[in-house]
Amino acid sequence: MKLIEVKNYEHMCELAASYISKKVQGNPNIRLGLATGGTPLGTYEKLIEDYKNGKTSYKQVVSFNLDEYIGLTGQNPNSYRFYMNDHFFNHIDIDLENTFVPNGTAVDLEQECRNYDEQILEKGGIDLQLLGIGSNGHIGFNEPGASFGSYTHVVELAESTREANSIYFENMEDVPKKAVTMGIASIMKSKEILLLVSGEHKHDALAKLLTGDLTEQFPASILKQHPSVTIMADEAAIGNL
Ligand code: GLP
Repeated sequence: MKLIEVKNYEHMCELAASYISKKVQGNPNIRLGLATGGTPLGTYEKLIEDYKNGKTSYKQVVSFNLDEYIGLTGQNPNSYRFYMNDHFFNHIDIDLENTFVPNGTAVDLEQECRNYDEQILEKGGIDLQLLGIGSNGHIGFNEPGASFGSYTHVVELAESTREANSIYFENMEDVPKKAVTMGIASIMKSKEILLLVSGEHKHDALAKLLTGDLTEQFPASILKQHPSVTIMADEAAIGNL
């Protein structure tokens, strides 16, 4: 894993966006794996700037998102489909048909998971996966204990994750209890991974990732086994590491 230290959140977003934009320029058919949460928001803003400045086109790009809440439709502002459209897709020239987010309202969720894995395969796999990390080491919605061998599946969210994400909801009760997430094995199949870590509250997670053991109790630890991981972390997250 290659660690790049940046000054602050702003710098991380600039660097991450320029990294991704270059990849998109170099491979107009790139298959991107995308993430939600607070961390990548600034990166999407900068990617939109790059697009508006004529540096990139997403006409041929295909994207797969990591996860989606169960029970929220794409019209629900808290769904990850809504987030992606609102913060990124609606501002670039990507064909929405080429943007995949698990359907959290599918009648048969098991089938939806199988379909999602098949779609990734059919499109040729993911070239670059953007990732954030939860304080408990979750990646996507793979909570501690998730099998390293898992593909897209339904998960029960940890209470700590529901609490962390409750800032986006009116009440804690509105935060879904379940989600569909790409599995650890799906994430590990990506050719390359870019992990963004920002803020003091992510320090412990980053420390565990860099110095801790490989264990399913800390899902992100699997990244140590991936041949091409770049971590961009800011000073607040790195601290005294
Ligand atoms: C969320 C998402 C993850 C995200 C993580 C960190 O629950 N499912 O994909 O990376 O938690 O979120 P944030 O960037 O808001 O700290």
